[in-house]
Amino acid sequence: MSEHVRVEAEAGILTIAMERPQKKNALTREMYAAMTQALQRADADAAIRAVVFTGVPGAFSSGNDIGDFAAIAAGGDLPAEVPLFLHALAGAEKPLIAAVDGLAIGIGTTLLLHCDLAYASPASQFRTPFLDLGLVPEAASSLIAPRIMGHQRAFALLVLGEAFTAEEAREAGLVHRVVDGGVTEAAMAAARKLSQRAPEALAIARGLVRGPREEITARIEEELTHFARRLRSPEAQAAFKAFLAR
Ligand code: COA
Repeated sequence: MSEHVRVEAEAGILTIAMERPQKKNALTREMYAAMTQALQRADADAAIRAVVFTGVPGAFSSGNDIGDFAAIAAGGDLPAEVPLFLHALAGAEKPLIAAVDGLAIGIGTTLLLHCDLAYASPASQFRTPFLDLGLVPEAASSLIAPRIMGHQRAFALLVLGEAFTAEEAREAGLVHRVVDGGVTEAAMAAARKLSQRAPEALAIARGLVRGPREEITARIEEELTHFARRLRSPEAQAAFKAFLAR
């Protein structure tokens, strides 16, 4: 449970709303745990036909809470909540849809690579400053992003840390549509359509389009091995310190 994640089921659609506006929806361990629980609930409940991720106006997510990163860098263990969430995301059985209205940073962007449909408002911005923080890509983004947008765009996003506008994200295939006004409504409308599809056919079709998961889960683990080491590196420690001292 987290006070910053609101989970609601209505008419076969499970909404997972990240709501920590004062920190631009930076994700804490508790928020990852609440989102994992929600994804597991969607998988277990036949009445849930689609899952919609939302944020707050201006922020889908500003990524992992840097204070949590700093605590790990100072000698803590990599919290189990993050890998559990990444595996729940990659293994989700129901269609995943995202409504992005504003900043999508770090996991706020890489989460979208696991979505079947993402909608974004025109002012949304997509960025993964992993290298700025002395870190490496996560959530199997190093595998999925080059597949959907090609090597160079994935490299610009994940390694150069270039910011993508909503339109650039759409061109790159990270976002399905840019919606001017009513981005959440657009995501909900897609979820409603899917919820009316024959569930068995939907599950098979989705599985075929997504392809096998083994490679994705293996890449999540490979990235996490590097990520955990990088978190404790002097490069990362200096970057966290600089952010927290702003
Ligand atoms: N972790 C922890 N706190 C965060 C955060 C994060 N990822 N992102 C934002 N915040 C906090 C800020 O520290 C600030 O807190 P404060 O009001 O107590 O000082 C608050 O959220 C608002 O952020 P602020 O930086 O004032 O807003 P902004 O609009 O000027 O900039 C961001 C927003 C997201 C661009 C900027 O905060 C940022 O770069 N955050 C870090 C993003 C990041 O590197 N994420 C990790 C990716 S792996």
